[in-house]
Amino acid sequence: MGFLFKIWTSSVVLSISYIIWQIYVSPLRKFQGPFLAKFTNFWRLMDVAAGRTELTQKALHRQYGVAVRLGPNLISLSDPALIKKIYSIKGDFIKSDFYPVNDVLANGVRIANMFGTKSNEYHNAQVKPIQKYYTMNGVMQCEPLVDRTTERFIHILDTKFVKPSTVLKLDDWLLYSDAWDNIGEITYGAPMGFLEKGGDISGILQDADNSLDYFAIVGQAPWLDNLLAKNPIYPIGQASFGAVVQFSVQRLIERMKPQAATGKDTSQKDYLDYFMEKMGTEPWINDQQVVGWLMVNMMAGADTTAIILRAVFYYVLKQKRIVRRLQAELDAARLTLPISYKSTQNLPYLSAIVLEACRVHPGVGLLLERTIPAEGLTLDDGRYIPGGTTVGMNAWVVHGDQNIYGQDAECFRPERWLQQEDESEGEFEARRKAMRDADLTFGAGNRVCLGKNISILEIYKIVATLFLLYDLELVDAKKDWHVQNSWFVRQSGIDVNIKRRERAF
Ligand code: HEM
Ligand SMILES: *[C@@H]1O[C@H](CO)[C@@H](O)[C@H](O)[C@H]1NC(C)=O
Repeated sequence: MGFLFKIWTSSVVLSISYIIWQIYVSPLRKFQGPFLAKFTNFWRLMDVAAGRTELTQKALHRQYGVAVRLGPNLISLSDPALIKKIYSIKGDFIKSDFYPVNDVLANGVRIANMFGTKSNEYHNAQVKPIQKYYTMNGVMQCEPLVDRTTERFIHILDTKFVKPSTVLKLDDWLLYSDAWDNIGEITYGAPMGFLEKGGDISGILQDADNSLDYFAIVGQAPWLDNLLAKNPIYPIGQASFGAVVQFSVQRLIERMKPQAATGKDTSQKDYLDYFMEKMGTEPWINDQQVVGWLMVNMMAGADTTAIILRAVFYYVLKQKRIVRRLQAELDAARLTLPISYKSTQNLPYLSAIVLEACRVHPGVGLLLERTIPAEGLTLDDGRYIPGGTTVGMNAWVVHGDQNIYGQDAECFRPERWLQQEDESEGEFEARRKAMRDADLTFGAGNRVCLGKNISILEIYKIVATLFLLYDLELVDAKKDWHVQNSWFVRQSGIDVNIKRRERAF
């Protein structure tokens, strides 16, 4: 009895001292935020689990200004001027413990990947051999593979949704065509078959959703991961993506057979070819490493592009004037099918729409967390944050900055990306540069999105093609879509009617 009483009193004393320390002593005490967040990460864990944390964070920044304390050791920052510092090219603010929650356990061994690793050395080693394949030139070598998917998508639209006229669940079909079959074509030169099936395969989409939920929530209190998915005895809660690994291994085995046996068109390269070119150039670049690279392409490149595309279609279709202006621009450009990426690059309104969709609905909706290096970080207002503190910026917060984007930053208005009538060339260039510099859609610095150019190429081509060929209309223009933030900010409920446009094609 005496012993339990001692434990009880000492934990009460400890808790009270911790609370007093956080309120009166902690170097972060001058940063305001939700009261409970000073003491525990469970506050933010619960908020993320509720599914719209980007809205909470926007509201908190409106209330407390440029720095908000979201956890005992976590500050959210919103000043776009800090992007270059926190997400620097040299990478001195390393990724936080949030990221390795993304690692997977295989036979009890933790397997890191280039996205989740905190180590810049490991990251550099992983990225360096393959970086050149992700430049726009590298991606454009794969452009015919994107066209294949688009062609199949058009055929399905024509035969399943135009005639006979059927409501198209655009949110799902963008996921099948773009998220998975397209990235499959680019990665292995073969679709995974989502378009053909018109639905999930081997539970892959379900696994992807579940693992995002896990990553988002458990990532708010990363030590929990050691008890759940990474505990060696009975791992709980994280999908293994066995079906995608299996698909990757099969494609690799096929590709290792002599050419004659596979009948592959060797003039058309895909990422599997690119990765295999690197095999054996370093002792660690073996078949496992190639599968690792394939998996990163598939896992990181799948949902994200579909999310931006959904945002484009949803916001454009909500305002008829935007549809008309876009279609007028596309018609005037005399594009030919398949629409090349190059030919979409002098269509300023299309580009304004894509930039605006990325701004109002960036695919990633949590803080991009980084750890402050030893020397600490001093904010413009003079407040000092010591080294070792986690800081982060949320694209949803930064993209709402009214100093950069204007008073109507909450609205979808592509015109903000174009020169205004009362604006000189120089003024426009400066305003546009400030908007581009504050863009966190793809992250920034040494850990910027590797697949950015793949996505950009896909998005321009698909949007141009669908609006050129079809008239799309929301079934219920007044109805809002449904949005859920699980790191990726996924949408559903974009039902449209679709018709072929009456024009030369
Ligand atoms: C619109 C589509 C996409 C968006 C919005 C997006 C967004 C992002 C963001 C915000 C990051 C940085 C994460 C951070 O700093 O915490 C990132 C990293 C990454 N993304 Fe993307 N992504 C997209 C498409 C893709 C595609 C298609 C691929 C691959 C084929 C890809 C591969 C990666 C990889 C490998 C990283 C880690 C990069 C590194 O650590 O060097 N992403 N992405
Ligand atoms: C995208 O392409 C541009 C132009 O080729 C290149 O400078 C940039 O590094 C590429 N981005 C990535 C992440 O590879």
